[in-house]
Amino acid sequence: MVNFISKSEKQTIETGLKISTLVKAGTVIAFIGDLAAGKTTIIKGIAKGLGVNRDVESPTFTLVNEYYGNLKIYHMDCYRENNIEGWLEIGIEDYFYGDGVSLVEWADRIEELLPEDVIKISIQHDMEHINYRKFSISSTPEREQNIKKLLKLK
Ligand SMILES: Nc1ncnc2c1ncn2[C@@H]1O[C@H](COP(=O)(O)OP(=O)(O)O)[C@@H](O)[C@H]1O
Ligand SMILES: [Mg+2]
Repeated sequence: MVNFISKSEKQTIETGLKISTLVKAGTVIAFIGDLAAGKTTIIKGIAKGLGVNRDVESPTFTLVNEYYGNLKIYHMDCYRENNIEGWLEIGIEDYFYGDGVSLVEWADRIEELLPEDVIKISIQHDMEHINYRKFSISSTPEREQNIKKLLKLK
């Protein structure tokens, strides 16, 4: 588990930029956290790092936003549609096991569909500081080591 605090929106975007350097074809990142935790904000950084120029927003009218950067990026939000069958019909497994990158907000709502090889990023508000966010990242030991190095954490 990698734990750290981001003290501003800017720092969260920069964290996303750094994490983007670890993203490869087929990477699935699950984002977990309440409303306004910063899930979309860190995704903005990751997408920017992957060469996406357009605005990145949570999918609202569609369930999946597609962006084209160095890789194809699928940005999904499971807040409204949290029905497992519904996501299977949409073909979520084709996204997860294909050549694109899947960035999934509210991923805890479809936990059972997540691939075994996933990067989980949990974000929590800090009760004392309005702009602080507590991040916990879990993945394989190797990835966690790489993330620690990238973020210059011990
Ligand atoms: N350290 C921080 N990291 C990320 N967002 C922050 C931070 N501090 C304040 N914010 C604000 O919190 C909100 C996060 O919104 P957003 O990323 O859309 O959340 P979510 O997608 O989790 O609902 C934004 O309004 C952002 O400006
Ligand atoms: Mg969001």
